[in-house]
Amino acid sequence: MPATLVSIRERARVLLDGICHVCPACDGRRCPTGVPGMGGTGTGASFRNNVTALAAWQVNMRVLHDRKDQDLGLRLFGQKLAFPILGAAVAGARVNFQGRLGEEELARAFVLGAAEAGSLSLTGDGPLPELMDAGLKAIKAAGGRGIPVIKPREDGEIVSLIRRAEDAGAVAVGIDVDAAGLVNMTRAGQLVEPKTVEQIAGIAAATSLPLILKGIMTVADAEAAVAGGAAAIVVSNHGGRALDHTPGTAAVLPEIAAAVGDKITVLADGGVRSGVDVLKMLALGARAVLVGRPLAIAAIGGGAAGVRLQLEALADDLAVAMRLTGCGDLGDIGPGILARTKLNMQNSKI
Ligand SMILES: Cc1cc2nc3c(=O)[nH]c(=O)nc-3n(C[C@H](O)[C@H](O)[C@H](O)COP(=O)(O)O)c2cc1C
Repeated sequence: MPATLVSIRERARVLLDGICHVCPACDGRRCPTGVPGMGGTGTGASFRNNVTALAAWQVNMRVLHDRKDQDLGLRLFGQKLAFPILGAAVAGARVNFQGRLGEEELARAFVLGAAEAGSLSLTGDGPLPELMDAGLKAIKAAGGRGIPVIKPREDGEIVSLIRRAEDAGAVAVGIDVDAAGLVNMTRAGQLVEPKTVEQIAGIAAATSLPLILKGIMTVADAEAAVAGGAAAIVVSNHGGRALDHTPGTAAVLPEIAAAVGDKITVLADGGVRSGVDVLKMLALGARAVLVGRPLAIAAIGGGAAGVRLQLEALADDLAVAMRLTGCGDLGDIGPGILARTKLNMQNSKI
């Protein structure tokens, strides 16, 4: 029998015993682990805030219109994508998943699964060279359809990793600037640091690949990314894994998109679990979203086929959400589809 998302998640639940409960709602409320693991850092508030910030927005249902066919396609970093949902950078199988799958398996599942679904995935970096190596190997195997995200290391080191990304044929390259204090790097004695606009400009000038800065949570940082010549930002708090008590990304995305959306490509992640969540992020100003934990679960339970199935399920769900809000293509999605009403916490599952 072909694997289904249900059987894939069941398998992942067994494999992730003690690390992640594979909850029906992945909202950070019951995570048995933080960082390392699958949860958020500290109290887990930043992870939970991502989910509650998205839930605080509601959408206006529109069913009397002529938008009968939904086109989810877009161009991003020179690539044609089937839908605006990308795999997030998820790495560190040895520490986060206690080695229950290999680093190469994890990276291949994200990159090949996303490429097979007609999208793209990011890959991660960490203290062990095997993380970056696995990501670059998977990207090369996918004909370059992937984006390695480098830690905010010393500038020279970043540039040499960018050279390796270029050799692998990557379509873009990222730096997760919110990892400037990541404990697993600092504990391993590896330098990570906040970057100045001048440093970003130097790195951007060193490559012809689009440079993405991941981990932007304020208008000031978004403007600094523009000033430094970045091609894109990801409004992200690292899935709540970098700093405790940050707002949810859906709460800060509108002001960031309003400030820089016409100067730079704005992407977003954090707590995206359904097609309606994708629709909300796009309506709040993101051009596309990244999904982390649900794809990690799919990768562990079903490899590349699992990632592909999960991405396609999200895309199908987005198509329905677009149809029921009167959107024919991504250009139709704007703030007009959103209704902000007071979230009734008692009636909400969150
Ligand atoms: C286990 C795990 C490992 C991660 N590793 C990285 C990484 O190496 N680099 C990076 O930029 N982000 C990393 N992230 C953050 C994700 O790229 C993404 O920002 C986050 O997971 C999005 O939130 P979501 O999981 O709620 O969808 C990781 C997240 C998890 C859960």
